[in-house]
Amino acid sequence: MPGMTAYVCFHEICSPRKGEYVFISAAAGAVGQLVGQFAKLMGCYVVGSAGTKEKVDLLKNKFGFDEALNYKEEQDLDEALKRENRNAGWINFDVPDSRYFPNGIDIYFENVGGKMLDAVLMNMRLRGRIAVCGMVSQYNLEQPEGVHNLFCLITKRIRMEGFLVFYYYHLYPKYLDMILPYIKEGKIEYVEDIAEGIESAPAALIGLFSGRNVGKQVVVIAHE
Ligand SMILES: NC(=O)c1ccc[n+]([C@@H]2O[C@H](COP(=O)([O-])OP(=O)(O)OC[C@H]3O[C@@H](n4cnc5c(N)ncnc54)[C@H](OP(=O)(O)O)[C@@H]3O)[C@@H](O)[C@H]2O)c1
Repeated sequence: MPGMTAYVCFHEICSPRKGEYVFISAAAGAVGQLVGQFAKLMGCYVVGSAGTKEKVDLLKNKFGFDEALNYKEEQDLDEALKRENRNAGWINFDVPDSRYFPNGIDIYFENVGGKMLDAVLMNMRLRGRIAVCGMVSQYNLEQPEGVHNLFCLITKRIRMEGFLVFYYYHLYPKYLDMILPYIKEGKIEYVEDIAEGIESAPAALIGLFSGRNVGKQVVVIAHE
């Protein structure tokens, strides 16, 4: 299901093109890690956000993201998205090209909502696309946070679209045609977080909302 979600939401909703700049939140989660790899396979420039240094390292060193940031260490997410790219910084020290997104974000793959969405809206490029896959930061709030920068949808003529994977299962054969050769060629990496036993399921579920999982959370009920 995360693979289908990543594939369909990215390809059908985001309309990606080679060379575009993609930003993914909750990027080390089950869906995000795959979206980033699909985007890289298409020739996009990919930046992800995640909540620990370990996850940031995974994004860059295992999943092949171009850049990654730890959103929990950022005082100002808007500034973080504008930050100079340290890899390129020594070459293009103070020109726009040295930022994560020299012309803004072409595609935002939304998994978290809230303050991150607000910061991203300010950094979207003209005619950018936002695929709303999830809003995990809002699921357990008594009062959902407001979004303040929606006017950017108008001024930048952004397309923002919600998505539910259950309505796209007719595309499952197409997904398999795409993913199976990549898996056979060893071009897709994945990380699972395995909890043992049915008794570990409640804690594993709750852990998703504090970022305790690294990769796809799986609960093993039995080994036979
Ligand atoms: N639309 C659909 O059809 C569909 C299908 C599947 C999933 N989804 C949605 O897609 C999103 C990603 O799913 P997934 O299975 O990849 O997630 P996941 O593996 O369950 O990971 C969730 C991650 O979200 C991050 N997170 C939790 N609370 C957060 C908060 N308050 N602010 C920011 N980040 C937070 C945590 O990582 P950090 O350590 O990085 O914070 C956590 O590890 C979820 O919102 C899910 O509901 C939608």
